[in-house]
Amino acid sequence: MDSFKVKGPSRLEGEVSISRAKNSCLPLMAGTLLCQNPVGLKSLPNLRDIRTMKKLMSGFGVKLQDDQFHCDDIHNTYAPYELVKTMRASVLVLGPLLSRFGEAKVSLPGGCAIGTRPVDLHLDGLKKLGAEINVEGGYIYAKAKRLKGAKIDLMFPSVGATENLLMAAVFAEGETIISNAAREPEVVDLGNFLNQAFEDLKIAGLGTSTLKIQGISQNSKNKEIIYTPIPDRIEAATFIIAGVMTNSFLSIKDCDKAHLGSVTNALQMSHANLKIHDSVIEVMPRNKELTGFNLRTTPYPYFPTDVQAQFMALATMINDTSIISEEIFENRFMHVPELNRMGADIRLNNQTAVIVGGKRLKGAPVMCTDLRASAALVLAAMIADGETNIQRVYHLDRGYDGFEKKLTSLGCEIQRVNLSARAQA
Ligand code: EPZ
Repeated sequence: MDSFKVKGPSRLEGEVSISRAKNSCLPLMAGTLLCQNPVGLKSLPNLRDIRTMKKLMSGFGVKLQDDQFHCDDIHNTYAPYELVKTMRASVLVLGPLLSRFGEAKVSLPGGCAIGTRPVDLHLDGLKKLGAEINVEGGYIYAKAKRLKGAKIDLMFPSVGATENLLMAAVFAEGETIISNAAREPEVVDLGNFLNQAFEDLKIAGLGTSTLKIQGISQNSKNKEIIYTPIPDRIEAATFIIAGVMTNSFLSIKDCDKAHLGSVTNALQMSHANLKIHDSVIEVMPRNKELTGFNLRTTPYPYFPTDVQAQFMALATMINDTSIISEEIFENRFMHVPELNRMGADIRLNNQTAVIVGGKRLKGAPVMCTDLRASAALVLAAMIADGETNIQRVYHLDRGYDGFEKKLTSLGCEIQRVNLSARAQA
C-alpha cells in the first residue's frame, strides 16, 4: 500500500491544469451503454475508479479502444459484487442496461466510509417507470420489456438517482418528468452528452430541478460523437485551497468558474486573494488576514460536500473559529481525528465541526479514510512543520490523477513511498 511523505511547510508557485471530472466521466461511461454505434469520451483521467468502470463494462462485452466505447455487442447485463463493492458509482449501469435491454442484475453497491449510501431513490424511480425490481442476496434484479415515461418526485436531489433515471428515461415510452432533480454540472454534462448522441432525444431543464425527457425508441442508433467531459470542479477547488493555505502565487487552468461559485465566494468572504477568469483561477498571496467561516454542505449550486474536508484543513490555519456542518453524508468527518493528530483543534457535535484555528500544525503519521479526506491531509501536511507520513493513499488515487506529480511541479516536497516494495527491500 502506497503512502505519501510530505515535508512542510511548503510554498507553491506556478500553474496546474485540471483534469476532466471523475464524477462526470463515470456517468458518461455508463451512458455509452445506451449507444449501439461507437462513441468517444475524450481525455478520461487516469483514475482507479475509471479503470474499475472500464473493467465492469468489458464484462458486459463492451470493447474499449483508447477512449472509444463500442457497445454494439453486449452479451450480458450482470454487474458483479466483486467490482461494484469497490466503486459505488457502478450502480449507474442499472438505468441504461434496463432501458436498452429490458433487464439487469446489478450488485447493491453497499455503503462506503462516508455513509450507508442507499439506492432506494434509484429503485423507487425505476419502479415508477414500470420496472419490476427485486432485491435478493445483495443483488438488484430489474426487468421491464419497455419502460414507460412517468412523473418522478425525488425525495432528495440525489445526483446518482437523477443520473440513473435520466438514462433509464432515454428509451422509455413517452415523457418522463423528474422533479427535485439534482442540478450538479455533472448531471448537466450527462444530459448534454445524451442530447448530442441521440438526434431525436429531447432532455429539457438541465441544471434546473425539473427534467423533462421525451423518450425515443429502443433501437434508436446514436451518432458517432466524441464528447469531452467537463473539468473536475472538486480537483480545481482542492488546488485553489492549496494556493490559499500556502499563501502562494498559483494559476489553476482548464477549470470552469461557473462550477466554482460557492467555493470561490466562500474563500473570498474569508479574504482569500483570487482573480477569477472564465477557465483560470489565480490565487495570490493575501493582503488581509484570513477570517473564519460558517458553512453548511448543500446540494449544488451551494457549498459542495466534496470540498468540506479541504475547507476543514484550511480552517485549521485561520486565526479564528470556523464552523462546518455536513448535511449530505452521515459520516464524513473521519479526517477530523487525523487533523487533530497534527495539532488541530476540531471538536465535533453530531453533524457540526467547530474548528479553533491558528495553532501551527506539526507533521505526524496519519491515515487516509476516504477520497476527499485524503486530499485534506495532503493540504494540512503542506502547512505543517516537519514531515507527515500519509498512509493508504489508494483512497486518493480514486479521484485525483497524478496528484503528487502536479504538486511536485508546483514546488511541494511530496514523495510517493511504496510500502510494499519497501517492506520487500
Ligand atoms: C455523488 O454521489 C458523487 N459521486 C459524490 O462524490 C458526491 O459527494 C455526491 O454525489 C453528492 O454531491 C459521483 O458522482 C460518482 P447522492 P451519489 O445520491 O450520487 C442519500 C466524491 O468524493 N441517498 O447525491 O452517491 C445518500 O445516502 C464522491 O467524488 C439516499 O438516501 O450522491 C446521501 O446521504 C463522494 N438514497 C445523499 O442522498 C438514494 O437512493 C446524497 O447522495 C441515493 C442517495
